[in-house]
Amino acid sequence: MANDENAPRSDGTAPGDALGGPVALRPRHHWIVRVTHWVNVVALTVMVGSGLRIFVAYPKFARKGETFCCWPAAGVHVPHWMMFGGWLAGARNWHFAAMWLLVVNGLVYLGFVYLHGEWRDLVPRRGQLRDAWEMTRYYLFVRRDHPRQGKHNALQRATYFLMPLAGILAVLTGLAIWKPVSLGALTWLFGGYVWARWWHFVAMAVLVVLSVVHVFMIFAVDPYSLRSMTTGGYSEALSPEARNARPFYHLLPRWAGGRR
Ligand code: HEM
Repeated sequence: MANDENAPRSDGTAPGDALGGPVALRPRHHWIVRVTHWVNVVALTVMVGSGLRIFVAYPKFARKGETFCCWPAAGVHVPHWMMFGGWLAGARNWHFAAMWLLVVNGLVYLGFVYLHGEWRDLVPRRGQLRDAWEMTRYYLFVRRDHPRQGKHNALQRATYFLMPLAGILAVLTGLAIWKPVSLGALTWLFGGYVWARWWHFVAMAVLVVLSVVHVFMIFAVDPYSLRSMTTGGYSEALSPEARNARPFYHLLPRWAGGRR
């Protein structure tokens, strides 16, 4: 909730640095969440880029002489700028190095949000589907006022909950195709080597899509939260709820406090 210093002004504007006034900031993200978030961005970028380079060395799922039912993108060209690591062996080295970073970093993040109780802001709660539907209606201009939310809206909660799940699937399927003999049981669980490789690709695609939507929404709806993910502070007076903000709509602080 906004405190007095941070409350919207009577003329409908909010105190904020964009208006030249002081901003009352409340701590929003612990430094462990901030550090692990940005380490994750680097690790994931390296993993996706090097993973695509490894994939392009054999860009299909069917073994030689066999067919595979479920790969609609056969023959699709992966642009060079999306790949990382130089050549197959180099990309494998990068992929495995970044894997350790991603796993350790992910365990620190998940351990922290569990022990610190912040998982409550992230896991789906009762009425999640209804709340997500209301947010969708709001973004589609069907609903006029921003639904009430806690730290994150229902669509964000769903995204932030799915991201670690997709990350865990990526790591487990990655292990299954890295050590298909010594971890044979795991490979078998995913339906064998070919399917484990396919699930690995799907997990990566889910992570990429969620991340692209996430970054788009941060810049289009709540760029003020970038500060909360860097220095930790957040002005509730500039929250999407206070601005009644949709993507690219009521982006500026002058809308804060208004329900137009
Ligand atoms: C350049 C890329 C990215 C930018 C600029 C960015 C920015 C942000 C910002 C500003 C927040 C805070 C939102 C808020 O407080 O309401 C946030 C939260 C979050 N981001 Fe990102 N992000 C990026 C990439 C990623 C990626 C690649 C992932 C994971 C695949 C990710 C996962 C998350 C999660 C899980 C949270 C919620 C953290 C929590 O509350 O515990 N982000 N991001």
